[in-house]
Amino acid sequence: MSQRTIGVVGAGTMGQGIAQVLITGGFPVQLYDVADEQLGRAQAAIDKGLGKLVAKEKLGEAEKGEAMARLELTTSLEALRGCEVIVEAAPEQPALKEKLFRDLSRLSHDAILASNTSSLSLTRLAAVCERPERVVGMHFFNPVPVLKLVEVIRAEQTSDATVARIEELTRQLGKTPVAIADSPGFAVNRLLIPMINEAAFLLQEGAASAEDIDQSMKLGAAHPMGPLQLADLIGLDVCLAIMEVLQEGFGDPKYRPCPLLRRMVAAGYLGRKSGRGFHIYQ
Ligand code: CAA
Repeated sequence: MSQRTIGVVGAGTMGQGIAQVLITGGFPVQLYDVADEQLGRAQAAIDKGLGKLVAKEKLGEAEKGEAMARLELTTSLEALRGCEVIVEAAPEQPALKEKLFRDLSRLSHDAILASNTSSLSLTRLAAVCERPERVVGMHFFNPVPVLKLVEVIRAEQTSDATVARIEELTRQLGKTPVAIADSPGFAVNRLLIPMINEAAFLLQEGAASAEDIDQSMKLGAAHPMGPLQLADLIGLDVCLAIMEVLQEGFGDPKYRPCPLLRRMVAAGYLGRKSGRGFHIYQ
């Protein structure tokens, strides 16, 4: 395995995007998931994502082939042994992530273990690892190939060298790092998700339609998409989970989740991924 090989754990939307920017940036990638079918879907999505770049003449056909050749798929965590950095993008379930971090820290003693978690405490994840100073947050934004920011989150235990390497890797991917402490919601989600929650309150009160709420922020605040459209992109379940983390983390009632958001999640209206959220998708 090349010294530069990066492991990616989880082949969902975020894992796919992270793997795509890594192989485009020249890094060999071991993409791990428990499910073979999910790996197949991820490979197809990455191929399509690179195809968009070829169509826009931002990438040559040969470069696309070289990038795809850097992608290896695996259902064995063992294949990540020897990776310099492992980026975890598994579902946001604390018990699952803690088990993964415990296993990875035993498997790859020297690797930096970076989590793409959008809400969980890095300090708690680091605490289950053999080398907690090598645990850090590396939080990408959806769609990963398009959005330029990476939040680099420092757990209480994270070393300066670990932060410096992840900031360097972020720049090698053409993205911009911002350093942030391990505080609930970090920076972006602490600002963004309460706005989405407030948009859900507006809708619940019947103050405006979903279309008009979205139009207001697109035309009145120059956001690329409205807050309810954005909720549908992120996933309503993810938005609700982040509000709960903010409410629990700060103990402040201003972070109470909107009851409409809760009802929609209970109904399975999760946004684009389920075909229906605040808007309907074909
Ligand atoms: N791979 C490579 N390039 C891609 C791509 C992919 N998978 N998907 C899109 N692109 C490129 C397109 O080719 C296009 O390129 P050009 O500008 O050169 O034409 C560009 O990205 C924009 O794509 P589209 O034209 O398809 O779409 P758009 O202009 O309507 O923009 C959007 C769509 C990028 C989603 C934009 O609306 C946007 O930025 N919305 C806000 C998204 C946002 O706020 N995300 C953060 C969510 S919070 C989060 O992720 C954190 C969390 O923890 C919850």
